[in-house]
This record gives sequence, C-alpha cells and structure tokens, in this order.
Amino acid sequence: MAAAQTLMADRLGQALELPRGALVLDAGCGQGAVALRLAETLGLHVEGVDLQPDNIRSATRKAARRQALDRTRFQVMDYARLRFPDERFDGVYTLESLVHAPDSQAALRQFRGRRGLAASRRAWLRASAGLWLPAVRRRRPWPVVAPPPAAG
Ligand SMILES: C[S@@+](CC[C@H](N)C(=O)[O-])C[C@H]1O[C@@H](n2cnc3c(N)ncnc32)[C@H](O)[C@@H]1O
Repeated sequence: MAAAQTLMADRLGQALELPRGALVLDAGCGQGAVALRLAETLGLHVEGVDLQPDNIRSATRKAARRQALDRTRFQVMDYARLRFPDERFDGVYTLESLVHAPDSQAALRQFRGRRGLAASRRAWLRASAGLWLPAVRRRRPWPVVAPPPAAG
C-alpha cells in the first residue's frame, strides 16, 4: 500500500473512532486495501462491497493471504441497494467512490437509515484530489452536509 494511501486509511480510521471489534461497512471497497489496513491496525471488522467482481475476488484473495478472513468479508453489491439487515453496522465509510454514484444523496441515505445505520455522525476528510470522503458512525446526530471552510 502506498504511503499516501496508508496515511489516508489511518486518518479515516481515527475519524471513525470505533473500538476494536466494531463492524464497519466499506462502500466501494475496491481491492480491499483500506479495509485490510483498518482490520489489521485497529482490529475493526470490515465488510466491503463493490460493483466489480474482479475487485472482490482480489480483495478476498488478499484477505486470505494475510489471514484476515476472520475480520474482513468482501462481496459484490451496489452500495445504493444494500442488502444488509437494518442497523447491522457500527459505522460506514466510503473512500473515493461516492463520486461515482449517480445520486450520492440517495446513497448516503442508504448508509444513514433505511438499510445502513440508525443515526450517524459524518466526519469529513479531504483527499488530496479534493474529494470529500464521508465516514459515518452510529449514535450521533446527523449533521448538516457542508464541507468545512477552505484553509488559509
Ligand atoms: C476509485 S475506487 C476506490 C476504491 C477504494 N475505496 C479505495 O479507496 O481504494 C472506486 C470504487 O468504487 C466502486 N463503486 C462505484 N460505484 C459503486 C456502487 N454503486 N456500489 C459499489 N461499488 C461502487 C468501483 O467499482 C471502484 O472499485
């Protein structure tokens, strides 16, 4: 994992503020690099979903190689149509993926309520590319969606 991506994953992990063993959804997990990092460094349990079967195969292979199949699980799924029971997760994050959603607000609503989380906090991280990366955590009020003011 490249240093910049590791840093981003670590910042995301801090923003989630979840205890070891908490169950987190990685929406648009790609090849699982971030999910594996969070599982290995923070002891989180991460379920990753991605539209692309190749990504899921690759993520699952990596998890097997790194003996992390007890803490990570990857499956093909559209994060705008989650097929998980309500309130399954303690948190959800999506990194550099929401930008692909035709209706990002609808996807966020999934994470927040109907099929994802009950009430959530969103911590905004800013990627070097200027994308806003929402991380969502349970049991805090849902804030107004607004990026922080520009630095400087
Ligand atoms: C730029 S990659 C980011 C991967 C990973 N989150 C990371 O940070 O390394 C975007 C990923 O989002 C996935 N994706 C896009 N729309 C999606 C959707 N509606 N449901 C699930 N995955 C989606 C793509 O297949 C792709 O793997």
